[in-house]
Amino acid sequence: MSTKTIIEPFRIKSVEPIRWTTRAQRESLLRAAHWNLFLLEADDVLIDLLTDSGTGAMSTHQWAGIMEGDESYAGSKSFAHFKNSVQDITGYRHVIPTHQGRAAERILFNVMCKKGDVVPNNTHFDTTRANVEFVGAEAVDLLHPEARRPETILPFKGNMDVAALEALIARVGKERIPLVMLTVTNNSGGGQPVSMENAKAVSQVCKTHNIPLYFDACRFAENAWFIREREPGYSSKTPKEIAQEMFALGDGCTMSAKKDGMANIGGFLCTNDDILARQEKDLLILTEGYPTYGGLAGRDLEAVAIGLQESLDEDYLRYRIASTAYLGNHIAEQGVPIVQPPGGHAIYIDAKAFLPHIPVEQFPGVALAAELYLEGGIRSVEIGSLMFAAAANMELVRLAIPRRTYTQSHIDYVVEIILKVFARREKIKGLKLTYEAPFLRHFTAHLEPM
Ligand code: F0G
Repeated sequence: MSTKTIIEPFRIKSVEPIRWTTRAQRESLLRAAHWNLFLLEADDVLIDLLTDSGTGAMSTHQWAGIMEGDESYAGSKSFAHFKNSVQDITGYRHVIPTHQGRAAERILFNVMCKKGDVVPNNTHFDTTRANVEFVGAEAVDLLHPEARRPETILPFKGNMDVAALEALIARVGKERIPLVMLTVTNNSGGGQPVSMENAKAVSQVCKTHNIPLYFDACRFAENAWFIREREPGYSSKTPKEIAQEMFALGDGCTMSAKKDGMANIGGFLCTNDDILARQEKDLLILTEGYPTYGGLAGRDLEAVAIGLQESLDEDYLRYRIASTAYLGNHIAEQGVPIVQPPGGHAIYIDAKAFLPHIPVEQFPGVALAAELYLEGGIRSVEIGSLMFAAAANMELVRLAIPRRTYTQSHIDYVVEIILKVFARREKIKGLKLTYEAPFLRHFTAHLEPM
């Protein structure tokens, strides 16, 4: 369709009420949550943009599939459906179901990495980094240097720095690099896509040195859409063809089906390597479950099998990417500094530029996220120094858009609240940490205003 207005390609069959709170209530709720929005009750949030993970709305087809779920312990037909759907898109030989993405990561890094190894990625997501570090390996981010500047507009700011990858291999030796990962889209770097050209270049380097390439494929469909829209030669290919072409460049993937699997739970690990697959399945049985269900119910396998295909639907992707850009463009037009251009699943406010008077040690991103909650009951998440400590490249506040969940007027409300906070930004104060866990500290940290 070539109309100016891009509409939601669905109508709403089931609704879930959301709840208003007063400013005074939010002040006391925030205090009780130690200024950490993870510690709020979801009921006390009006618009929840904490994550796009597992928070989307399922389709009528998915709900129908759920009723068809085969709950057999071994050999469930829902697993066959799941496996076929995953293989149709990825082409990988072994499909190992897991309860979510990080379970796939834990198994992958346990089997492939040991102490002293190095894992390069364009940017590791927090759980990916933690799982690499947990086995004693080093997680190295090799994002293209141009992509570290939030205001720079480039079509593929998720690209890996290929020269830096080659330099790393030369420096530490390929024996210490058990795999290379590419995260599509690059969540921690602003939800930015990786081009096919870059994936090909990374794949070529990996092949030259005989290092396996794995995709962190959480948002593979959104990445495929950006390639179709922005990369020469792809405008007449379907998102599925583009995704298939990209997966063919690698040896396997990890996936959280809570994102482009359009499900509320689920994930998988894929590999073409028979020996690794056997070790991975052994570990799977130990902690996740039998290889035909992983940590999932048969009905979850059905929801993912159907959701993966729906995420590649052109009408859906056109709406999805346009609606995220709608939020980004409306606040950027008013001067709010964001990571440009708008990403696929989220808009990232540059908190360092929004609150230049708050030093990085006082967590400008956490301070801004707290203000958005106080002003309008919006929950967002800091991706910066609280989440990544010294490894933080930027101080960002992410507004992640759940799939098929909020309408345009919800987003108009979010725009209004952000602009209100922007107007009084000079008065916002920094925060100090009063409690932190030894890893993944942002989930449970306590803070208080300076
Ligand atoms: N990789 C990426 C790029 C992710 O964004 C996530 C999750 C994971 C791996 C782990 O998957 O949650 O199913 O275990 N990201 C969510 C987020 C949590 O909010 O961005 P999981």
